[in-house]
Amino acid sequence: MSMAMSSTSSPHSLLLQNRRLSAAKPFFNTAVSLPNRRISTSITCVAQTQTPSPAQTQTQSQDRVFNFAAGPATLPERVLLKAQSELYNWRGSGMSVMEMSHRGKDFLSIINKAESDLRSLLGIPDDYAVLFLQGGATTQFAAIPLNLCTPDDSIDFVVTGSWGDKAFKEAKKFCKPNLIWSGKSDNYTNIPAFDDLDQTSNARYLHICANETIHGVEFKTFPTPRNGLLAADMSSNFCSKPVNVTKFGVIYAGAQKNVGPSGVTIVIIRKDLIGNAQEKTPVMLDYKIHSDNNSLYNTPPCYGIYICGLVFEDLLEQGGLEEVERKNKHKANLLYNAIDESKGFYRCPVEKSVRSLMNVPFTLEKSELEAEFVKEAAKEKMLQLKGHRSVGGMRASIYNAMPLAGVEKLVAFMKDFQARHA
Ligand SMILES: Cc1ncc(COP(=O)(O)O)c(C=O)c1O
Repeated sequence: MSMAMSSTSSPHSLLLQNRRLSAAKPFFNTAVSLPNRRISTSITCVAQTQTPSPAQTQTQSQDRVFNFAAGPATLPERVLLKAQSELYNWRGSGMSVMEMSHRGKDFLSIINKAESDLRSLLGIPDDYAVLFLQGGATTQFAAIPLNLCTPDDSIDFVVTGSWGDKAFKEAKKFCKPNLIWSGKSDNYTNIPAFDDLDQTSNARYLHICANETIHGVEFKTFPTPRNGLLAADMSSNFCSKPVNVTKFGVIYAGAQKNVGPSGVTIVIIRKDLIGNAQEKTPVMLDYKIHSDNNSLYNTPPCYGIYICGLVFEDLLEQGGLEEVERKNKHKANLLYNAIDESKGFYRCPVEKSVRSLMNVPFTLEKSELEAEFVKEAAKEKMLQLKGHRSVGGMRASIYNAMPLAGVEKLVAFMKDFQARHA
């Protein structure tokens, strides 16, 4: 059964469609009272939408492409269908999540549930705050030094790709960052041995980008900063695997790769680090303001937070992040094996031990065929395979929501393309 709304559907036909999808049992009946949230709310939702079971949606429905974009990126079909069915009238509230007051009980139940599910997924302890912010990960490049440092403080950067480099450059405006390691001379294809790092004795924290989206380089383990504080940009591997949050002072991630649409930025920060922002810090960048106000100081990206919440529920239903990581490893192995076994027809420049499970860059030995590869793949409904403009080649982003069938189809296409062009 196709549940996709045709472009000609009127709101009323959608309503009818929703009625068809509705079932009597409540979706959730939550009395939310998180330790770090002063808002306690209890809501009973009358409407329930039927979400297709994972078995029903193992393969992509016919009218969707396989979207290998780096972000905004593909979202789980189950989540999209659920959001579609709730778009017009969220669980009997009589309105869309887009129309709700961010201070009303319905939205409070949504943001509280999203936070609580994220805490369960990542095992986030009570002494860490979870903030749902705006401005993208790029805004955090400024917010972190502003909140954690004085202008005279040193911080250390290990730069393994373009995003880490951007964070380093932005930090220069607010404190004294040191570039203690850069992979630039090797075109960002590796990660240093941690023991060799020459950390600054009084560095306030050590910053890394846990997964470099453009270069496909991913930390598999994490360095121990001299003073214990590690800050990590996890934008492109957030919730792709279990992570020991207590190893970090702050983790941040733009949602638009693995957990939602663009417009939501998630910050997980140890609470004792909050409250020391530089005086000039704009209110919108001050973690204390957002933490004291439960991410509701101003109007948050409500609909984006709702979608993130649906994604967190979906990840929990799949069995949590261990299971998600198992699936991600399987998909990535298929793709890297296809590259490595192509006898040089395809090449991945990244050092094997640090290859990303999320973003797989590769080139063709005959680079003149790359445009043809991307074109032919698009005809087969596999889109956005062109590499980032700064590095060229191809890149397949295979985030959590990329179905196994998408990777299998890409691998089959690669083999066929090679057979025709070798
Ligand atoms: C690892 C990483 N950090 C930061 C950013 C910038 O994120 P935003 O566009 O949300 O500011 C990106 C965007 O692709 C990214 O991949």
